[in-house]
Amino acid sequence: MDFKKFITIVEDFPKEGIRFKDITTLMENGEAYKKAIDDMAQFAKDKQIDVVVGPEARGFVVGCPISYALEVGFVPVRKAGKLPREVLSVDYGLEYGKDSLTIHKDAIKPGQRVLIADDLLATGGTIEATIKMVEELGGIVAGIVFMIQLDYLDGSEKLKNYEIFSLTHYA
Ligand code: PRP
Repeated sequence: MDFKKFITIVEDFPKEGIRFKDITTLMENGEAYKKAIDDMAQFAKDKQIDVVVGPEARGFVVGCPISYALEVGFVPVRKAGKLPREVLSVDYGLEYGKDSLTIHKDAIKPGQRVLIADDLLATGGTIEATIKMVEELGGIVAGIVFMIQLDYLDGSEKLKNYEIFSLTHYA
């Protein structure tokens, strides 16, 4: 399927010079959304995944249905101040901003095989921080999936030691 047909490019959002990739138009199409999730789950099928981890908020839109398809649990990575129990926290840089991400300390058990899922790989800051947290808790990052990879940013360089699958690439 040509997933790009369902992704809308919005010029100058959220600020001038950014060509925002809007996945809501893909999600609105039941067939495209299902096929996108199925393709990402297929990549992970033979990787003995124990749990899917996804960063707020669009990582939930991708990660939760993949965890359902793989019949494993889902662990949310959230921005600071959102998770109610004891967290591990990591600072990270974004394509346009800076923040910190958190995960519940007991959410990943040592030795668990983790699939990380997000909508978009830009600079890789979000996923680099997510990997750091998963590994600090003893998890093994067995694969990483994205709906969109921006090839003109160097995000994949940060992830070169991991197995990545991206549904679409933008040059
Ligand atoms: C966006 C996107 C990725 C991240 C990619 O999330 O959903 O998680 O940025 O950028 P990076 O590779 O440069 O880190 P954002 O923080 O805007 O949050 P949202 O999903 O809540 O909109």
